[in-house]
Amino acid sequence: MSRITCVAGARPNFMKIKPIVDALVAIGVDVELVHTGQHYDAAMSDVFFDDLGLRKPDAHLDVGSGSHGAQTAAVMVAFERYIEDRSPDAVVVVGDVNSTLACSIVSAKAGVLLAHVEAGLRSRDWSMPEEVNRVCTDRASDLLLAPSSDAIENLRSEGYREDQIHLVGNVMIDTLLKNRERAIARPLIGDLGLGEQPFGVVTLHRPSNVDEPSALASIVGALNDVAAEIPLLWPTHPRTMKALESIETNPDLRLLPPMGYLDFLALQASAAVVLTDSGGIQEETTALGVPCLTLRENTERPITITEGTNRLVGTDPAAITEAALSVLLDPPAPRCPALWDGHAGERIATVIESALQSSDRKRPTDL
Ligand code: UD1
Repeated sequence: MSRITCVAGARPNFMKIKPIVDALVAIGVDVELVHTGQHYDAAMSDVFFDDLGLRKPDAHLDVGSGSHGAQTAAVMVAFERYIEDRSPDAVVVVGDVNSTLACSIVSAKAGVLLAHVEAGLRSRDWSMPEEVNRVCTDRASDLLLAPSSDAIENLRSEGYREDQIHLVGNVMIDTLLKNRERAIARPLIGDLGLGEQPFGVVTLHRPSNVDEPSALASIVGALNDVAAEIPLLWPTHPRTMKALESIETNPDLRLLPPMGYLDFLALQASAAVVLTDSGGIQEETTALGVPCLTLRENTERPITITEGTNRLVGTDPAAITEAALSVLLDPPAPRCPALWDGHAGERIATVIESALQSSDRKRPTDL
């Protein structure tokens, strides 16, 4: 029986790893789940394990927060010890957070088969820490498991071998489709006093939007204007909550604590519009058919624009207000990219297991 280690570290990893763990277990793989501890607050971590029914981690590296270098290094040191101790046949990493990069480098140097789920996404913005993480993780990986056709094109144009590249669909959407009905049945919308009233949802946590007070104040100015037309609910990331302390907000721009997976899915599913700088939320709104306005200058997920409900708006306050008001009057028609169908986890399990069984395994080579 193969022994495969699945890694999760930060909030957006948990909903991606769950269907992979389930699909590997279903085909008889001996799975271990490692939590790096990059996110550690109950609201950023534990609630996702409860909401998703994700098993308790078999190993917890407890690294916590730190600068990029300190955090990545702490995960590397702890994960190297784990790999020496457990010697898995393969490691699966997801997404683009610091934990993803750290575990990739360790696995590549240990000679363990490495699979990257969400391979090939590119914003082409090297100032984004996630872009550095994506490119370097792909480079270290044996198997590049891509969510969409644009990611496949990126990998081909970067010179990866065809036997490394696999279009598997979007694993985050597996989890969304599995939990949508359960989420909608929750009492959250009534508890927030919203009833049938239309509302919008906001999330912001990118350093480029929230770390510089004047940049954040400028975006909040636009959100205050939009909130004068339609109430906006804003579950805030701890990083953003700290930054918002000194900025005035309209009472209809309602700041809420971070939400768990099911409550946030319920909120998105009922929203008239979502304004965000998150990558995953661009995908989830597309799968839900809800209009999304992305408050960034670029996106690594252009498929959500060409084949979904997303629009890239940037951070100019007048552009944000104009886009929000126009999308409320004329929302885009729902549509969804190929293979965002709830079965990505199964495809991933099949690709990894057959690579492990293959006798002529090739390692990543010079590009
Ligand atoms: C990380 C990911 C980002 C992802 C985001 C989702 C990287 C480079 N960034 O950003 O891609 O979209 O997670 O949330 O990996 N904090 C807490 N409690 C926690 C965790 C963090 O209060 O449980 C605070 C700490 O002050 C910490 C700060 O949030 O310093 C930032 O956390 P960190 O993990 O470094 O990055 P995120 O901004 O969460």
